[in-house]
Amino acid sequence: MSDGKRACALDELPDVGAIQVIIDGDAYAIVRDEEGGIHALEDRCTHAEVALSEGEVEDCSIECWLHGSRFDLKTGAPLELPAVTPVRVYPVSVEGGEVFVDLTRDVGGERASAAAKEG
Ligand code: FES
Repeated sequence: MSDGKRACALDELPDVGAIQVIIDGDAYAIVRDEEGGIHALEDRCTHAEVALSEGEVEDCSIECWLHGSRFDLKTGAPLELPAVTPVRVYPVSVEGGEVFVDLTRDVGGERASAAAKEG
């Protein structure tokens, strides 16, 4: 059994791109990157709070359609201005063709601080 909450079926995701799912009243972007990796982010740009799930997915990042900030799908870090604050990134598991998200952890923040420690 997964620890997470069910987000969607794997085959609801585009080959490369994102969909919005609502879990317990909050919006999350479930994303498939070019290499088939699945990611879960809070679906709200940290600049002006529009849905990131409507943006383009490229090079393991998602672009905010409003002003063009891109966010790293693994760490949530903004890669381009105007956004300067990371979005939360949650651990994902796939079981039996279903995508589950552990909403209790911000794995993006954990990855970012681990990378900072490694220098
Ligand atoms: S709202 Fe996303 S970059 Fe401005």
